[in-house]
Amino acid sequence: MKKFFGLFGFVFLLLASCQNAHSTKDHGQKSAEKTEAELKSQAQLIVQFSSQALLEKLQKSIEDQGLTGAVDFCKLEALAITDSLSLAFGVDIKRVSAKNRNSANAPHGEDKKYLDQFENQGELAVPVLVQVKDKYTYFAPIRVAGALCLNCHGMLNETMTSQQFEHIKESYPEDKAFGYSLGDLRGMWKITYN
Ligand code: HEC
Repeated sequence: MKKFFGLFGFVFLLLASCQNAHSTKDHGQKSAEKTEAELKSQAQLIVQFSSQALLEKLQKSIEDQGLTGAVDFCKLEALAITDSLSLAFGVDIKRVSAKNRNSANAPHGEDKKYLDQFENQGELAVPVLVQVKDKYTYFAPIRVAGALCLNCHGMLNETMTSQQFEHIKESYPEDKAFGYSLGDLRGMWKITYN
């Protein structure tokens, strides 16, 4: 908890850099390009920060409440955390997956196109910044980065116990977010500048 709030010093640095990016917006082609690069690196930092924040909270809740308790924690808190980070950063932060656990994280509009692109690119998949009308959106792949993830997103009776599987099914009867292996694409971050 303490560590999570400690990370907020970082938010202020980011917010300061957001303002710089916007103030250069109308200065012709060259700085417009620079602005895109800035928006991209800013979104990259937001993704790093948000992943770290979620991971720390998840690890803490596993320590405190065990693996099944941590599922209840994710159900209550995961969206609340990304929503409060969205407010703090002044952008819209979402995690999107076609094989989602929470249907609130299902793809919309153009999302599927970028999920498919990342899937097809395999290990070579890299984040992209795209402009639709006057809005910039940044998409970045989310991978099953460690064995930790497999406890709740892995293969039944191999990396995920049946007790864990049953507990997850109780909360998420429509769950699609299991059967993964290490390194698989789990979904993507979607950062939208409003
Ligand atoms: C303790 C169980 C648990 C662990 C460990 C876990 N998750 Fe999840 N994950 C969940 C739950 C529960 C949700 C649904 C959260 C919600 O309702 O918003 C979820 C949702 C997600 C989502 C959002 C898309 C969706 O399926 O709804 C992503 C992406 C994700 N997890 C990735 C990961 C990654 C990567 C790791 C490893 C670093 C990981 N998870 C570890 C339980 C877990």
